[in-house]
Amino acid sequence: MTKIIIDCDPGHDDAIEMLLAMADEYAEILGICTVAGNQSLEKTTLNALKVIELAGRKDINVYPGSAKPIMGNLITAPNIHGNTGLDGTLFREPTLRASKTNAIDFMHNVLREQKNVVIVTTGPITNLAILLLAYPEVKKNIDRVIWMGGSYSMGNITPDAEFNAYNDPEALKIVLNSKLNFTMVTLDVTHRALFTMDDINRIKNMNNKVSEQVYELLTFFYKTYEENFSLGGVPIHDACALAEALHPGIIKSKLLNVEVNTSTGPSRGRTIVDIYNVTGREKNALVSMDINVEGFKNYLFNMLEKYK
Ligand code: BDR
Ligand code: CA
Repeated sequence: MTKIIIDCDPGHDDAIEMLLAMADEYAEILGICTVAGNQSLEKTTLNALKVIELAGRKDINVYPGSAKPIMGNLITAPNIHGNTGLDGTLFREPTLRASKTNAIDFMHNVLREQKNVVIVTTGPITNLAILLLAYPEVKKNIDRVIWMGGSYSMGNITPDAEFNAYNDPEALKIVLNSKLNFTMVTLDVTHRALFTMDDINRIKNMNNKVSEQVYELLTFFYKTYEENFSLGGVPIHDACALAEALHPGIIKSKLLNVEVNTSTGPSRGRTIVDIYNVTGREKNALVSMDINVEGFKNYLFNMLEKYK
């Protein structure tokens, strides 16, 4: 059993990540934090509530976090996730409400009492950075942080930068300097596990309480990915990070030095990964090198099949 906190900005792939976690018997979900990213904080928080209600898990609380990055302006992704952040399907208005406790206070409270907590963070990494600045003593109770973000071969929001890194490079710098056990699940590997329309149809045919909405969400996501990136399939980035958190080894990583560009120039948000150790700088992140594509896809299908 792994005690996890999910920190996310749903977002289609964040929504799938949440559904997998809620189905996985190895996950003890301590809470779900939200951050502005794919859409405003208000929308990502509402979306998290909708996904929890779809799964029928009213025991899980949502803690709203940061509405903007530490510095600079938030760039949302309506071209990928639509105006709601979860376009493509209609959810019932949730009856659940977000907690009055914010994400930073929630994580602080949990980490004062619980040890060996794994944080899976799949949006701009603002909440964790603020937590570390405010309460550095909680680090001892964080077993691992797995973040979906960064890249070493290409960007997806600028030619150089991945979306989550670009949205809060100052926050990423704080986490990279924190000496936490930090894994980066980068675009380079999430783009290897592409879901085709055949895969998405397989989910529709599961005919369970989440399958129709997951099918509609992924059909929308597939389409925006084809329009924007033409990969011949859609990566479900954030679910890769979740899979690695609960089943370590799905992602193959290498301990390397990583820096992030915090300039305001054209490479802002770029993650500079020292693959050949040419700088000799301290290795501060486990950087994804490969993914067990078949293992990951099977995991995703198996978890979604568990919904009756
Ligand atoms: C990341 O950006 C967001 O749009 C996705 O949810 C994912 O976390 C991929 O670059
Ligand atoms: Ca995300």
